[in-house]
Amino acid sequence: MPPPARPLRLLTVCLGNICRSPAAEAALRDLCGPGVTVDSAGTSGWHDGKPPYPPMIEAAARRGLDLTPLRARRFTAGDFAVFDLILAMDRDNLTAIEALRPTGSDTKVRLFLDLLPDRGPDVPDPYYTRDFEACLDLIQDASQAWAAELAARA
Ligand code: 4NP
Repeated sequence: MPPPARPLRLLTVCLGNICRSPAAEAALRDLCGPGVTVDSAGTSGWHDGKPPYPPMIEAAARRGLDLTPLRARRFTAGDFAVFDLILAMDRDNLTAIEALRPTGSDTKVRLFLDLLPDRGPDVPDPYYTRDFEACLDLIQDASQAWAAELAARA
């Protein structure tokens, strides 16, 4: 019997790592199953060590997603060596991620909404829009699309 394939490692990235990327982390983990590991990070480091933003924790909990164990951390250049696929919540964060790409790294970085072209390119930041429901609608739909895409690749 062949050894089990290494789980695919995904990283979701936003600015603060307290609203969009932890919600996406939880949604993807829920949908992808054990063949995929998921983490999240923020390009700013402003909230390092903190739990997700309480209004996002509450909105996610109403959809069955538990964000309470998650803690914010800053995205680092070292993440390129750890993850197979990095999903940026918006174009600004994609630019900030690419600015840290080590020479020679071929890790894929994509926009989280790449699979929903009619609804992208950016996941609006609910820390500013205050629309946590619209944010979670987008995140759950995009997570379904990524889960299907990754399952088809396996
Ligand atoms: P996130 O939202 O990038 O989705 O986690 C934000 C949270 C906090 C701040 C900015 C964005 N902030 O300025 O503190």
